[in-house]
Amino acid sequence: MSSIFEPLTLRGVAIKNRIAMAPMLMYTGNDDGKVTDLHLAHYGARALGGVGLITTEVVAVAPSGRISEKDLGLWDNGQIEGLRRLSAMIRNCGAVGCLQLAHAGRKSQVSGDIYAPSALAHGDQSRVPQELTYGEIKGLVKAYGASAARAVETGFECLEIHAAHGYLIHEFLSPLSNRRMDDYGGERESRWRLLLEIVAEVRSVWPQDKPFIIRLSAEDKAGPGGSTVAETVELVARLKAAGVDMVSVSAGGLSPVFDGAIYPGYQVDYAEQVKREAAIPVGCNGSITSSELVEAILRRESADIVYIGRELLRNPFWLLDVARTMGVEAPLAIPTYARATGPYVRGH
Ligand SMILES: Cc1cc2nc3c(=O)[nH]c(=O)nc-3n(C[C@H](O)[C@H](O)[C@H](O)COP(=O)(O)O)c2cc1C
Repeated sequence: MSSIFEPLTLRGVAIKNRIAMAPMLMYTGNDDGKVTDLHLAHYGARALGGVGLITTEVVAVAPSGRISEKDLGLWDNGQIEGLRRLSAMIRNCGAVGCLQLAHAGRKSQVSGDIYAPSALAHGDQSRVPQELTYGEIKGLVKAYGASAARAVETGFECLEIHAAHGYLIHEFLSPLSNRRMDDYGGERESRWRLLLEIVAEVRSVWPQDKPFIIRLSAEDKAGPGGSTVAETVELVARLKAAGVDMVSVSAGGLSPVFDGAIYPGYQVDYAEQVKREAAIPVGCNGSITSSELVEAILRRESADIVYIGRELLRNPFWLLDVARTMGVEAPLAIPTYARATGPYVRGH
């Protein structure tokens, strides 16, 4: 029996297997933040390929929170309709859709002012951001709530907040990027405040029967003095109490250089520690490209679901190949695809 093809249920939502498509920004939007045909084809292909959970790329809660002008957005009601089509496309192609809400913070490359907890640039080549005022932070919490309310209208089954990889929320969590002296900086309780307020705001509008995921960097991997995985475990316990159902455990992104080794599954240990110590379902990711490694991660109970990124860019039908190799009959949105996964017989 294969663990990969066992379903996973989060709240009321059943995911048909343990493979998730990692969120990946494709830079295929227009400047209005709306879904295009390319988005529909891109995500539809991976859903037809049998992936259980499809996470969208970053969807910005504010125009200044976009990574690029080509990002998706959900700061305006006019952006709901395209995302509704996208969620239906993913569902009709057989997968559960998860919308990732984000704010790029100081890593935004859009023109105009960019914002962060403190006026510290991401790297030598980066612009110096404006330090957010207290009132602007309160406004951001409301922006997340308003985007989450619109996300309800899009019909996505699952919602994720991107709090990893050095974007705005992560910038608040880390002492390396947050030098504020007010309620939102200093001791870790204060650095965690923005995320905890956003989680409370979002959970109050996001339906009780739908899963809510947070993506975190377990460690900053940006040199000495950053957040530790032990602190992340304590943060996750707070998130769990606030109604978060799963944590997508990643690492790094706070600085341009990743301070650590990179090899297949290099971030799995973080996921395993968070799962064990905070007793919450977790997803893991990081250079995972083989079904053997996925199977080992699931059997060892290091994670509940495995996020695959670039391998699914190379091959949207990766999971169909895995099913064929393992001799598993995977449920397919287009059952006729099974004619291409059987033994060597004449096609007709
Ligand atoms: C082109 C590209 C775009 C990405 N965009 C996002 C994103 O929008 N949100 C996010 O949380 N992570 C993003 N990531 C990180 C991936 O989700 C994933 O963590 C990373 O690629 C490692 O997984 P992999 O080794 O399987 O590719 C992106 C990665 C790539 C390669």
